[in-house]
Amino acid sequence: MSEQPVTAVIVGCGHRAVIYADYSLAHPDELKIVGVADPNRERCLMAAKRYGFSEENCFESAEALAARPRFADAVINGTMDHQHVKTSIPLLRLGYDILLEKPFAVNEAEMRALDFAVKESGRRVMICHVLRYAGFYREIRRRVAAGELGDIINIQLAEHVSFHHLSTSYVRGKWANSEKCKTSMLLAKSCHDLDIMMWMMNPVKPKKVSSVGARTQFRPENAPEGAGTRCTKDCPLVDTCRYSSKRLYLEHPDNWTMYVWADLEHIEHPTDEDRMNSFRNGNPYDRCIYKCDNDVVDHQSVLIEFEDGATGTFNMIGGSAKSMRTIHIIGTKGELYGEFESGKFTVSKIAPDEPELFADEEVDLSEGGGHGGGDEAIVEDFVRYVRTGEQSISCTAIDNSLAGHLTVFLADDSREHGGEVRECRFDKY
Ligand SMILES: NC(=O)c1ccc[n+]([C@@H]2O[C@H](COP(=O)([O-])OP(=O)(O)OC[C@H]3O[C@@H](n4cnc5c(N)ncnc54)[C@H](O)[C@@H]3O)[C@@H](O)[C@H]2O)c1
Repeated sequence: MSEQPVTAVIVGCGHRAVIYADYSLAHPDELKIVGVADPNRERCLMAAKRYGFSEENCFESAEALAARPRFADAVINGTMDHQHVKTSIPLLRLGYDILLEKPFAVNEAEMRALDFAVKESGRRVMICHVLRYAGFYREIRRRVAAGELGDIINIQLAEHVSFHHLSTSYVRGKWANSEKCKTSMLLAKSCHDLDIMMWMMNPVKPKKVSSVGARTQFRPENAPEGAGTRCTKDCPLVDTCRYSSKRLYLEHPDNWTMYVWADLEHIEHPTDEDRMNSFRNGNPYDRCIYKCDNDVVDHQSVLIEFEDGATGTFNMIGGSAKSMRTIHIIGTKGELYGEFESGKFTVSKIAPDEPELFADEEVDLSEGGGHGGGDEAIVEDFVRYVRTGEQSISCTAIDNSLAGHLTVFLADDSREHGGEVRECRFDKY
């Protein structure tokens, strides 16, 4: 191929950004990483070495990068949720296209500001709703768009967040306290799912939303009698509690290593002793699960009415034994039910000539890779979008991503007001 690779600068060189940037190692003809901006100097130097650019192209922040003339086609923005809008707008104005992590904004005002900046700059921004790129959801969308199910009457999605994931990210971890992280559980975890629902319904827009949810599990009053404050320091239940840090993290050190052992990142092969020292030195993942500063809900339900009268429900249930995402779409010609983790779905068509009056088709799209192959496929599509402006069936350009985020903001507002119904207004966009 004679075309030059798209050049990109990493902004926020954390776990997510590196996953996307690694696409350049496997596809050097498509993507070349030429710089990095991150206050963490070690991460910058790691990136310079890994992707082969000079230390001169290491910047201490997105702001420092934005103070220089543009020297690449694009930015991969993997900063934390509340930094996405403020770091992206100056870079858009400089002319960078952006692959931007979700959630792309943490409230409606921010969403509007970013949408305006994208339109004003004429740049291309793609949101990392990686699930749209998993073969499982892509094939479901293809069938829905082709009319295989007829008109959609009802769509039901559910996300079961495992006890392990919930405790690591939303009780002890980075997305547990909404004051600190500026996001809600629905926004941080399930903006993917509401995005999938809106994508399946597209071009039909949501009209009304209501939601209820609560934090019932991890509260001090639910701590077992005698529980300590830190599992490995002062808790007599360290060997029996389902949420013991010893059982979850010391005995399974490779699970969630990037969050739990972030302070050991500089050690190539940390030992059990390094991990125990990390706990002794105040690692937050050793805190009693019932005595953290978490305030986000651990389960939430959302009810949606669409403008054509179709209805939708979404249930986020934290604390399940297994992680699971399900989708069930019922249309006038048939229905579809699938479980993402298995990669399989069943299409059941209304068929009066069949003995059972319906005809089933089993579809198996189990495939490997992060988020069902979505992590890699989204970068491939971003490169194509930057080069040609063409939007694929999955494309998560900002216009395609507004409905999902708006539904999340309205659902959370409804939840905070006892489930009051909220109207979705798209005339502002
Ligand atoms: N698409 C998905 O499925 C998915 C999955 C997990 C996380 N995420 C999202 O990805 C984002 C990043 O998460 P992560 O776990 O990789 O975070 P991280 O903390 O590992 O990375 C964030 C990086 O941003 C850097 N940073 C802070 N201030 C900065 C600034 N002013 N300029 C430049 N860099 C700055 C930090 O030093 C850090 O290295 C979050 O928004 C998260 O919600 C998305």
